[in-house]
Amino acid sequence: MRETLTDRFRFLRAFLANPRQVGAVLPTSRWAVRDMLDLADLRRADLVVELGAGTGVQTGEVLARLSPNARLVALEIDPDLAALLEERYDDPRLQVVCDSAENLDVHLGGKRADVLVSALPYTSFEAGLRRRVLDLLPVALAPGGVLLVIQYSPLILRELRRRFPSVQQKITPWNVPPAFLYACRTDPA
Ligand SMILES: C[S@@+](CC[C@H](N)C(=O)[O-])C[C@H]1O[C@@H](n2cnc3c(N)ncnc32)[C@H](O)[C@@H]1O
Repeated sequence: MRETLTDRFRFLRAFLANPRQVGAVLPTSRWAVRDMLDLADLRRADLVVELGAGTGVQTGEVLARLSPNARLVALEIDPDLAALLEERYDDPRLQVVCDSAENLDVHLGGKRADVLVSALPYTSFEAGLRRRVLDLLPVALAPGGVLLVIQYSPLILRELRRRFPSVQQKITPWNVPPAFLYACRTDPA
């Protein structure tokens, strides 16, 4: 409980320092995280990449679902949050990278992700940054892979549909605010 409150405080502090970069005042709830990750089969993934890991709510649940030989690369642009993730998860499958999602390909070492988990606040990004990151996502996915996106509005849907032939949608009410979840695939449904 204390950790949750401390995390909320850290998250709020990050938001107040850089509202457009963080895009939310609270971390995603554990119910919304489960709803989101249930849209992919993480147990069969070899490489999972998380974009905008924050205080690690998705990171922990991804690690719990991941097979022993799989890898998770978690990108987080805020150095304080990246340091927290390093400290929190002592797991050889996890690589925390403090860098922008724009540089995703540099950190994939020529590989493609079976699952991409994105909690980036696309709608508060400057238009050029939003386009650059979204354009990278289909290219970074392995054949048969899936991109999971959580957002607080449906505004990104059109952009996702332009890049992915299959976009599955879900609303998760157990979050403040209720969240929109998308599972995007490069293979047609
Ligand atoms: C809405 S928060 C989500 C945090 C966490 N995944 C969660 O669900 O609670 C967005 C996170 O993305 C990070 N972020 C913003 N822009 C980024 C970028 N260009 N590259 C990587 N991380 C970024 C922020 O620092 C923040 O931690």
